[in-house]
Amino acid sequence: MDGKAQRRTTTRYVISRKTELMLNPFSIASTPRLIFGVGKVTAVAGIAREFGSRIVLVTGERSFEVSGYSNSITTSLEEQGCVYMQIRVGKEPTPSMVDDAVSACIDFMPDVVVAIGGGSVLDAGKAISAMLPLRENVKLYLEGVGTKVHPGAKVPFIAIPTTSGTGSEATKNAVLSEIGPQGFKRSLRHDNFVPNVAILDPALTVSCPAETTAASGMDAFTQLLESYTSTNANAITDALAVEGLRRVSGSLLKSFIEPDNITARSDMAMAAYLSGLTLANAGLGTIHGFASSIGSRFDIPHGVVCSAMMYPVNQLTIRRIKAHRPGDGVLEKFRNASRIFTGRDDVEALLDRIAFMKTEMKIPALRNFGVLRADLDDLAAATENKNNPVQLTTDELKEALLMAL
Ligand SMILES: [Fe+2]
Repeated sequence: MDGKAQRRTTTRYVISRKTELMLNPFSIASTPRLIFGVGKVTAVAGIAREFGSRIVLVTGERSFEVSGYSNSITTSLEEQGCVYMQIRVGKEPTPSMVDDAVSACIDFMPDVVVAIGGGSVLDAGKAISAMLPLRENVKLYLEGVGTKVHPGAKVPFIAIPTTSGTGSEATKNAVLSEIGPQGFKRSLRHDNFVPNVAILDPALTVSCPAETTAASGMDAFTQLLESYTSTNANAITDALAVEGLRRVSGSLLKSFIEPDNITARSDMAMAAYLSGLTLANAGLGTIHGFASSIGSRFDIPHGVVCSAMMYPVNQLTIRRIKAHRPGDGVLEKFRNASRIFTGRDDVEALLDRIAFMKTEMKIPALRNFGVLRADLDDLAAATENKNNPVQLTTDELKEALLMAL
């Protein structure tokens, strides 16, 4: 080979500083089977039949009956030779609600549990499927409440969300709560509790009421941003979170203003699912710490707490990072989120956008649910920072609460 040819085939590699950074170790859990698309809910009977013919159908109190899809689902279940027993869930699930549901359907000996509804319905269905083999009180197995470790055995579980928010269709935990002065909001968790099948049919979310679209959408937004900036984030969750944030940015307000916009609804269904994947694998932050402490003492929708705490917690978090760790990579993640939502590099633009979205969707403040200044000490003391990029102090937690009242 002459010198000229050699020059042509020699490549000069430029190694950027970014590629020199070591990837953190991680493992990823995800849904064994995901079916996505408008109209795909009609597949549920055939899929359920793969597990058996005896089905526990977990639904909302009334939403299933008044929806446009209930008849086609129950008819197709009957056509597939299935028998089903319906359990109705009217609010966020409590341990006693799960225990009662398990007692009610244990003699029915179901082959599969199918939950179709919002986050509360999916969490209830997930917990019922997990407790059917054990025949014990679920409280014994709740993190931070009971002392027993769940072995992971369950009845197969199919999750079909009708709201775009919690991402429960992708997660390995069911959140159960008891509201009151000694209340709690805790998880029943095991890797096996990830639904066997998730069916995401964006058409099911078109009838979602505006206030639920707003609150659940802000929950998904919070989950994506918290897992993106989590101390436990990894390369895969970062990529998924960015994709989810991009879809929230383009479609949350649109799905609130134009409820029939199926493109926006599809984006939000995907964003919520991605938020479930990222939270299950990267964890959450202080905003969800508040969701537990406030949500266990006051009867407030989960997404409303997230929406109320999102601006103040992110503002205080960013303030601390700028003051003490200005070169921290997580600040670049906040800047990137700002670019996605506003096209601007400065993180203040992201904070302004968060405040704007809350106002635009008329999401009520915490004081509307009876949270008072007198509650600040107790709430701050009960709030965990989880995987927040900075551990806010008790005084900072109180400052955040004061801003959110
Ligand atoms: Fe959440």
